[in-house]
Amino acid sequence: MAIAAVTTTKSSRRGLVVAIDGPAGAGKSTLSTRLAQALGYLYIDTGAMYRAVAYLVAEKGLDPRDETALEALCRDIRIDLMETGGGLKILAMGEDVTRQIRTPEISLLTPQVAASTAVRHAMLHLQRKLGESGGVVLEGRDIGTVVFPDAEVKFFLSATADERGRRRYEELLEKGYAADLKETIAAVKERDRADMERATSPLKQADDAIVVDSTRMTIDEVLELMQRQVKEREKRIDI
Ligand code: DC
Repeated sequence: MAIAAVTTTKSSRRGLVVAIDGPAGAGKSTLSTRLAQALGYLYIDTGAMYRAVAYLVAEKGLDPRDETALEALCRDIRIDLMETGGGLKILAMGEDVTRQIRTPEISLLTPQVAASTAVRHAMLHLQRKLGESGGVVLEGRDIGTVVFPDAEVKFFLSATADERGRRRYEELLEKGYAADLKETIAAVKERDRADMERATSPLKQADDAIVVDSTRMTIDEVLELMQRQVKEREKRIDI
């Protein structure tokens, strides 16, 4: 079975399980990072974990539809998330892949890899282990529905596909990638389709999630709203 380790500077991880789900480009990563920082919680980027698996699939030249090969890969996979001062570092089999997992090629491959039952099973196991002590913000697509259906606070972040595409386009330019706005919006829509239509753990809003449409909100406004909700919940259950 898969093994993962999280290296963190925090001495205590007690607190709530906060689930943040939503489609690509809804602002989940920025908001999850900032919310975790504000709360003193551990941030777990589950998308980065799927990306790290996709990186290994590409590196080993595996066919993402070959379930037997993916199952074998997951048998002794190792993915580490390390909190550093400057953000989350992602290691796949000990190799720092933080930058490599964000290329457009890996972004395209990841939904295919994330559709594999064997991969989802391995990641589910890892994510539950990482979050079981609480004091965590988990970001993904199926956290509130499948990974932690009993999470104390669930958010579903959304924005229109055009707005999300525009944000992703600017992010790519900022990182120095050549990008085309129309193509980026089309890629966002394609990823939405793949995430929502896959048989195992599709992207779906949990019935008890707090839905936040960020199309016309600033990051700070959304963050404030989320922080207020978590603090209220922390008070109610006396953390
Ligand atoms: O959040 P992200 O863009 O880094 O996610 C990368 C891919 O991984 C995306 O296609 C959705 C998939 N994913 C998933 O299927 N389940 C999760 N919990 C997180 C991400």
